[in-house]
Amino acid sequence: MGSLNAEWDALRQLEAQHSNRRILSLFDDPDRAAAFSARTGDMLFDYSKTNIDAGIRDALIDLAQAAGVSEKRDAMFSGAAINDTEGRAVLHTALRNLDGGAVLVDGQDVMPGVHDTLDRMRAYARQVRDSAITDVVNIGIGGSDLGPAMAYQALSPWADGPRCHFVSNVDGAHIADTLRGLDAGTTLVIVASKTFTTIETMTNARSARAWMDDQGGNPEAQFAALSTAADLTADFGIPPERVFGFEDWVGGRYSMWGPIGLSLMIAIGPEAFDAFLRGGQAMDRHFQAATFEENLPVLLALTGVWHAQVCGHASRAVLPYDQRLARLPDYFQQLEMESNGKRVQMDGTPVVVDSGPVVWGAAGTNGQHAFYQLIHQGTRVIPCEFMIAAQGHESDLAHHHQLLVANCLAQSEALMRGRSIDEARARMAEKGLTGDELERQAQHRVFEGNRPSVTLAYPQLDPFTLGQIVALYEHRVFVEGVILGINSFDQWGVELGKELATSLQPVVEGTASADGKDGSTAALVGFIHRHSD
Ligand code: F6P
Repeated sequence: MGSLNAEWDALRQLEAQHSNRRILSLFDDPDRAAAFSARTGDMLFDYSKTNIDAGIRDALIDLAQAAGVSEKRDAMFSGAAINDTEGRAVLHTALRNLDGGAVLVDGQDVMPGVHDTLDRMRAYARQVRDSAITDVVNIGIGGSDLGPAMAYQALSPWADGPRCHFVSNVDGAHIADTLRGLDAGTTLVIVASKTFTTIETMTNARSARAWMDDQGGNPEAQFAALSTAADLTADFGIPPERVFGFEDWVGGRYSMWGPIGLSLMIAIGPEAFDAFLRGGQAMDRHFQAATFEENLPVLLALTGVWHAQVCGHASRAVLPYDQRLARLPDYFQQLEMESNGKRVQMDGTPVVVDSGPVVWGAAGTNGQHAFYQLIHQGTRVIPCEFMIAAQGHESDLAHHHQLLVANCLAQSEALMRGRSIDEARARMAEKGLTGDELERQAQHRVFEGNRPSVTLAYPQLDPFTLGQIVALYEHRVFVEGVILGINSFDQWGVELGKELATSLQPVVEGTASADGKDGSTAALVGFIHRHSD
């Protein structure tokens, strides 16, 4: 990939040229909403409430083409080792390639293994669903937790199997509160860890096994493992028939489509899980086939690049107006920030633009009563990504959903439209205020507006749609990473903290001296020791 300086410069010039333009003015064009929306299946992506016009869109597409997005996309799907700091392919897409062709890694078709594991998962899920098991405890963290935990909540209307619980934090409170009240005799523990070495997960797994032993359960029969490390799962004592393996070309934060999704499959059943896979596959096919002008992952990525790397907005909010997607922002935090929070490009040279943005958010309407004040009247612009279903699942509560929809669309409109000082003055005059007090109070009621947002809309949240949404965001992350020139599939940034924690553990335990530690760390360890029994 050559330098993208010309493409970045063109975008910066367009940003400077239009930085004061009111987004609302773009709707003088009656076709704007249609011209700045795209569809795949029943899903609609509306990016018209942004400052992106045809010229800016063309310049963004030029950037994507110059960055080699098409070629890199094809390389990913073909099994090339694009994760080149770890020398691995990136093939989470193979896990949902249900009726596609061969996928070769080092000359070997990986699809027979994928189908075999999926068949084993289906058989085991059916076995558990038909058994006396009442509760499943998934022990994992990061990509071995966030995806299944999010999807279990998202698809609760389909959850007709055992109750699922998710333990991730090494804080003893997490496993204690989770196991409290469970019957060890009817609980299945799934140890989910790609490496089977993550200290939080292995610590929790050992404590869960001790609990099951103490409480009359049978760990020999009530533990399963999801991992690439078959040797370590055997060492832990889990028999091969309850180990569901996957390959290192499935990244942790991209892994819920395979064995890491076992708890979800047990909860909603293999048929609904297949629908989830089909949704992901549909988005894959759209991503591979659609022109950039009609390509939802590309367009979502380009709005992200426009706002983060060109306009300089340091964060973006994911605001699903769906209580069952309340955990989606947490899931996207790892997917996006662990993928694109990088400082150097593939060749080791520093990135030439900012790395990926801070991604955060919460379900609507709750966020409106927490942080929307800042989004509307703070000094920083925070691009928002709204999500809304046309209808909910509770047909007897349809009026609730209509309120939800009205609030979602209203927030997007309010962010764009704002409220002028004249409009604020008029409202204060209606309250009977006059003179300086009217002017002072009016200033507090001004909304600058012109704050960009995009909206993803779909008929209803079901397994297929969730699969589309997750794959959409996986591919938007991929496209942004290609444009930044980084490796979105390693995570070296998590290593230093882990190493220091390992060296600090004996100091905290009191079996090693704090000598050599900085004064703050040593003093904090001293405080902990003085206040510990
Ligand atoms: O956060 C670092 C990380 O390696 C993530 O990428 C991964 O999802 C998580 O830890 C858990 O790793 P494992 O599944 O190997 O336990």
